Amino acid sequence: MSILVDDPQAAANLVPLKPAQRGPRILAIANQKGGVGKTTTTVNLATAMAATKKKVLIIDLDPQGNASTGLGIDRDSRKVTTYDLLLGDAQMADAVRQTMVPGLSIIPSSVDLAGAELELIDIPEREYRLSKTLRRGCAEYDFVLIDCPPALGLLTLNALCLADAVLVPLQV
Ligand SMILES: Nc1ncnc2c1ncn2[C@@H]1O[C@H](COP(=O)(O)OP(=O)(O)OP(=O)(O)O)[C@@H](O)[C@H]1O
Ligand SMILES: [Mg+2]
Repeated sequence: MSILVDDPQAAANLVPLKPAQRGPRILAIANQKGGVGKTTTTVNLATAMAATKKKVLIIDLDPQGNASTGLGIDRDSRKVTTYDLLLGDAQMADAVRQTMVPGLSIIPSSVDLAGAELELIDIPEREYRLSKTLRRGCAEYDFVLIDCPPALGLLTLNALCLADAVLVPLQV
């Protein structure tokens, strides 16, 4: 299991670094196939970035909530989640949780997200819900990593509309 790195130059271009660019680098970690390492990549990459003194935020957009669980956010303690940001009127500041990793925060998910695809269908500009709620707040981070569910539905589409690059883990 690995990230596609056959051509190092091409891999570097996946996340083009522009020193002059302001604001955060927002990466969606996505692949419609399940079990290819999206969550593992998200958590490990974010932890490594935080270890280099970067301010990092993970957005857990998977109803399974494995990134949240893996970073020690107990299910019972998840009061404000990505579901509330997508479909409620919650504020980003109320959803962000510190993790045990210095410099690494997470917006946890909840199992309610499993129904979000259906609930979003009738909402205007449904693919921009996450972008509208989070884009401004993301500005205080160096990196934002979005752990997507194993599907190319409205949740992943919301991640793609917020992100400026996509990282696709592959099982080879
Ligand atoms: N680079 C890797 N090498 C070997 N095993 C890995 C690697 N990355 C992840 N795994 C293992 O693969 C399994 C699936 O990983 P993970 O949960 O990160 O995948 P996922 O794409 O997020 O799954 P899902 O689509 O269900 O969200 C886990 O058991 C994990 O430990
Ligand atoms: Mg996952």
